[in-house]
Amino acid sequence: MRGIILSGGSGTRLRPLTKITSKQLLPIYNRPMIYYPLDTLIKAGIKEILIIVSPERAGDYLNLLGSGREFGVKFTYEIQDKPEGLAQAFIIGEKFIQGENVVMILGDNIFEDNFADDISNFKSGAKVFAKYVPDPERFGVVKFDDKMKAEKIIEKPTNYLSNYAVTGLYVYDHRVVEVAKNLKPSARGELEITDLNNWYLAKGELEVAMVEGEWLDAGTFDSLLKAQLFAKEKLDAKMSI
Ligand code: TTP
Repeated sequence: MRGIILSGGSGTRLRPLTKITSKQLLPIYNRPMIYYPLDTLIKAGIKEILIIVSPERAGDYLNLLGSGREFGVKFTYEIQDKPEGLAQAFIIGEKFIQGENVVMILGDNIFEDNFADDISNFKSGAKVFAKYVPDPERFGVVKFDDKMKAEKIIEKPTNYLSNYAVTGLYVYDHRVVEVAKNLKPSARGELEITDLNNWYLAKGELEVAMVEGEWLDAGTFDSLLKAQLFAKEKLDAKMSI
């Protein structure tokens, strides 16, 4: 299993903080934000990690993270020229993925859970992780049937669908590269990860598991503050890096 940390994007909701640096390099208590998703991958046993960054910030990432040796892993870096969607990561990462299974985590997502078992037991298809949230309309949202089987996923739905958001950790088999290449940009001009997930869902090959512990997307001022406090009070003691 190979790992990707998607750490580009524009971070417009955190301006002016993101005028001079990348969102995922901002401090979360005593560590840069990206250390948290990196720790999630490391604890899941991932050794080969591709970090996708925007061209303006590539040097900062290299300075901070280096080769990966310090963390006992190997980093590869790629540039995403423009933030054209989460699913673009699998096109950018094609060479890195080398026909293997791949787990992607977003650089601003902070998880309490340990996903080692989910990742080591993964064989094929796709697996995503949902969380009950009060504000699902900010995310991809999953509708379950009465047997808790996923029926559909809609990106930022305008009409209420459910309270289950798809979080920023995704596991796919090697087909994800070809599926991503065949996606058409959405109305907002992005290659949508929800379209990838719905491709696997339509084939009956998408598993949706629940996130048990805390999950935060640190992309707004309020969630950034919440993440800081959570990191200090709960995560600090559990971090391996
Ligand atoms: P978002 O938070 O949706 O986007 P953003 O980071 O550009 O922020 P804003 O909406 O405030 O402008 O992105 C989620 C994560 O995915 C975040 O870690 C950035 C990353 N990302 C990319 O690396 N490339 C992309 O094309 C997109 C859309 C997001």
